[in-house]
Amino acid sequence: MVNTVNTVCLMNTLIQRQAKEVLLNQRAKVIWMTGLSGSGKTTLALYLEKLLHKKGFFTQVFDADCLRATLNRDLDFSIKGRTENVRRIAEISKIFLDAGVIVINCFISPTNKIRQIAKKIIGNEDFIEVYVNSSLDACEKRDTKGLYKKARKGLIKNFTGLDSPYEVPENPDIEIDTENYSIEQAVKKLSDFIIPKVTLNNE
Ligand code: ADX
Repeated sequence: MVNTVNTVCLMNTLIQRQAKEVLLNQRAKVIWMTGLSGSGKTTLALYLEKLLHKKGFFTQVFDADCLRATLNRDLDFSIKGRTENVRRIAEISKIFLDAGVIVINCFISPTNKIRQIAKKIIGNEDFIEVYVNSSLDACEKRDTKGLYKKARKGLIKNFTGLDSPYEVPENPDIEIDTENYSIEQAVKKLSDFIIPKVTLNNE
């Protein structure tokens, strides 16, 4: 039986998150990248992680293709499947957050409601919504995985931006234009925004 009651589980620990953040010399956050397939979420996440790592921050990237091949392999691309996908990722992110880790997530997370679920689980204070903005046209032209072509042929159903919705975030913390910016410019803009937020004793 699935437990549908909205419960909060406080992990049993004698060491609080704050102490772990002090040990790691950082402030834990969940950086949540949303955008169309092929918009550059994962590329941006990997470069951001590399840059943060170089500066001594402790991070973890969660990427859709990897998680959907493992933990979430039972889920489809219906809105229900996507909601459960995001819910699970948000719960895992919360555990990492409580361990003091900076989490970088790359999931389409296509609707406001789905992103709200993630934000509610993680908490307003710790959730940084990044809108990775590249138009459908640009993503389709790039088509790095050949999925748009397959979807246009009808071989993939419920494809985001084609026969499944993508709602542009209403109020993201930051928007990164990956259509007109180079990857270097995009990473610079994002890291300039993120670094003060993950730096301890920055207030
Ligand atoms: S989400 O909507 O539930 O957040 P998620 O980010 O995990 O989606 O997965 C998206 C990735 O799965 C895409 O980048 C693409 O590689 C692959 N994919 C396979 N089928 C679809 C589909 N129908 N719609 C979008 N992406 C798909």
